[in-house]
Order: sequence, then C-alpha cells, then structure tokens
Amino acid sequence: MPDHTYTRVGFFSGEKIPLEMHKARMVQRVHLRPVGERLAVLNATGNNTFLLPNRDVFLDMLTDSGVNAMSEAQYAAMLLADDSYAGSETYYRLEKTVQGFFGLKYFLPAHQGRACENILATAYVNPGQYMVTNYHFTTTKAHITRVGGHVYECVSDAASVTASSDPFKGNYEMAKLASFVDKVGTDKIAFVRIEAGTNLIGGQPVSLANMREVSEYCRSKGLKLVLDASLLADNLYFIKTREESCLKRPLDEIVLEMSGLMDIVYFSGRKLGCARGGGIVLAGEDDYRKLRDLVPLFDGFLTYGGMSVREMEAMNVGIRETLDIDTISQTPIFVEALGESLQAKGVPIVTPFGGLGCHVDALKFIPHVPQEQYPAGALCSAMFLTGGIRGMERGTLSEQRNPDGSEHLSSMELMRLAVPKRVFSLSQMMFVADRLGWLYEHRDLIGGLEFEEEPATLRFFLGRLRPIGDWQERLAAAFRRDMPSGL
Ligand code: F0G
Repeated sequence: MPDHTYTRVGFFSGEKIPLEMHKARMVQRVHLRPVGERLAVLNATGNNTFLLPNRDVFLDMLTDSGVNAMSEAQYAAMLLADDSYAGSETYYRLEKTVQGFFGLKYFLPAHQGRACENILATAYVNPGQYMVTNYHFTTTKAHITRVGGHVYECVSDAASVTASSDPFKGNYEMAKLASFVDKVGTDKIAFVRIEAGTNLIGGQPVSLANMREVSEYCRSKGLKLVLDASLLADNLYFIKTREESCLKRPLDEIVLEMSGLMDIVYFSGRKLGCARGGGIVLAGEDDYRKLRDLVPLFDGFLTYGGMSVREMEAMNVGIRETLDIDTISQTPIFVEALGESLQAKGVPIVTPFGGLGCHVDALKFIPHVPQEQYPAGALCSAMFLTGGIRGMERGTLSEQRNPDGSEHLSSMELMRLAVPKRVFSLSQMMFVADRLGWLYEHRDLIGGLEFEEEPATLRFFLGRLRPIGDWQERLAAAFRRDMPSGL
C-alpha cells in the first residue's frame, strides 16, 4: 500500500471520504447568482467560459493553472524575494531546487509553460518536421504549427475510450511510434514529447515503465526526448499509487529516474509548484547554449525569464512540496470523490479518474448535439446556467481548424471541471454533483452552439458563440420550476 496518511487513516464507518491534510486560514468570498442573471451573463460573454467575469462565477473550475491554493511556506518565501534584474539571489535559490528536483544540470526560467514551448519550437522545429507526442496540448500544437511543423500522436486508440479501466491511458503505444519513425525517417522528427498527466484526454497518466521504453527507443534512434512536466504532480501520484514497482519507492527517486530518461524537461510553474511561471531543465551543454540565447529574446534576462521574483520564491517552495504525497494527493482524491458521486447519478465521465479535474463525456451526455455544434462547449454553457459553475471545453472548440478551413473534429468531447489543489470543500463538490445530476435529468433540453466571432488562433480563448435556438431559456425555465429560488 502507498505510505501516505490519507490512505492509512480510513473512516471507521467504512465510507470513502477524501480527507484534507491542511486547514484553511485565508478564504475568498464567492457569489451564487440566480439562474436569470446567469443566463444574461452567459449571453453577454459569448457562451465562452473563458470570458466570464469571476464576480459572476460561484465555483471556478476552469483550470488549476495559477489558481491552486498556496501554502503558508510559499507566502512566507515571497517576502524574501531579491528583486534585481540580473543575478538575483532568488534565481539561484530556484535554480538549485530545480536542479536537485530533476537531477539535471541546467535550468532556464521562462514566464509560463507556453513560453517554454515557444523556445523549444523556435529552436528545434523546421518547417515540415514533426513533433511526435503521446497527445497534443493546445498551446504546444499551436507553437509547433506556428513554425511550420506538424504534430503526430501515439497514444493507443483505447485512450479516447472514455470509460476504461486502463490505469495509464496516457502511455505511448510503442508500435505506433516505431512505425511512424520508420515511415517518415528520423530527419523528419524534431523531437519526441511525453506529456505527463495527459491533459486533453482527461488528465490521464503515463507510467514510468512506458517512459523507460520511449526513452530507450529514442536513444537507439538518436531522437531528442522532451518531457512536459506541467502536470507532473498528478502523474507522480498515480505512478506512486498505481504502478506496482513504484508503490514503495520514494517520490524523489521516481522523479530523478524519470527526468534521467529525458533530454529536456519543461514545465508550467502555474501547475507544477503552484505559483506562476515556468522553466526548462536539461543536461546537455549544446542544447543549453542553443536554448539559452532565446530566453532574453522572448521572456527576460536569464535570472528571471519574465517571472516576478516573488512568484519564483513561491515556486521554489512549491516544487519541493511536490515531494509530499499528502500534498499531491489532494486533487486526485477530490476528483475521485466528485467522480464517484457523478457516476452514482449515471453521468458519463472519463475513467479511470485522472488528475486535474473531472471530465464529463459530452458525446454520451448529449448525443443529439452534433460535433459541429460543439457539444462540450454547449455543456459548459449549460453547467454555468445550472449552478454558476465554470468548466472548460476540451473538444472540437479547443482544436484548430484544418489548413483547408474545415472543422477538425476532436476524438473526444469533454467538459473539464478542474479541481485546483486545496481550493474547494467537499460540500462544494457535492453541490457540483447535485447540479450536474439535475442537468443530466434534463439533458434533452440542451442544444448546440455556433460561432458569432471566431479568432484565427487558439479560438477557444476569445471566441464568441451563440446558442442555436432558445434551448437556454427553456433550460432556465425548467431549473426555476425545480428550484424556485433560482439558485
Ligand atoms: N502543457 C500542459 C500539459 C498544460 O496543461 C499547459 C497548460 C501548458 C503546457 C501551458 O502552460 O498555461 O503555463 O502556458 N494548461 C492550462 C490548463 C492552461 O488549463 O489546462 P501555461
């Protein structure tokens, strides 16, 4: 059995309840608006949950990015920041922590995860080349295609089966990788990427054994291997609790083995380290020199990389706290509790439960809404209407159109309800399950969306949509009938 407190404590009643290993000493007031106001806000903000003002949101489950609760040690460290453009003591402290955590020699700071992707794409991807990955992430793909590259994915077909019992759905299918490399040749491959905690397929982890296989293969072919460690905390928890050979291994040892398999590791410090920043870590001097010169060009001088020194101090502590199992368990055990209560109501969700949040399968929830009408986006609108809960579309809306302008239909249509670390209470999660259960009972009322204004890049961030027909008014009326307070 894993050696963390939560698993060992248990409840005498036998109930499975996620137990917080922290207490709240600072809180933020939130507001639950009645359904009529929610409808007005939704349409004023283009049915895009990214555009909702927080003052109108009850539970902000958009993302865990930059919104995880920080620890008291992180806040305390922020007071010690050394605010200098060059040579900041803060930088040297963070560099030492990152080097020790990953066991790699060089650290390059960058202002967030996509800034690292910009640097890697600029340095390594020539037009026509491929980045091979288990699965793409939105910003990663946008940076690769921006420089004329392509993305090829190697997760198994089973990874897009939402209801599954495969504990490591983020794994590479080695045969796919090998046959693609044989087909295009190694010269056509800029680098191979592994995304820990594979975001767009439901926060699904990659096993350490699979990382070993990919690394061995890449080394035999002379291919550069890059780890996106943004979601490492969740992935690490799943390796520690699901991977037989790791159940008794200390977390630091697992991380060191993992990064030793890679040529380059990068991360969003908005996720890993629960602050706001990012960085690239690597062992090779040639790579270091090549990437180093891009940091002052895109992000900032080498000793801050666009980050505030206060955030760097918080990240320094947050990265070290990633090695505490009682800290990194908090999102997965809350996702599991929410997931189990949704399952009990029959709501179709991604299983096994992953990291990051609960992922609702919109194709099964509202099969009558065609993919061209963005079912996952429509479900996010309906969720906000039903509970003031802000989720995120992870489906066709989050895809880029094909070069010929046609829709690139996503292999999955998910509504992600993120569970940022240590932010929500169990009763708030039960509220989410209750409202989503209600919505499931009234799913026939949900209709599709169409674009009113569609940006050319990363359209999901700023695009505006409208409902097709009057389904939102009818859904709001049904809600008011069942919940006369409108809340
Ligand atoms: N890689 C992964 C796996 C991510 O999940 C993210 C961000 C990034 C890279 C980019 O990092 O935001 O610091 O620039 N994911 C956020 C999310 C935005 O909500 O899933 P960033």
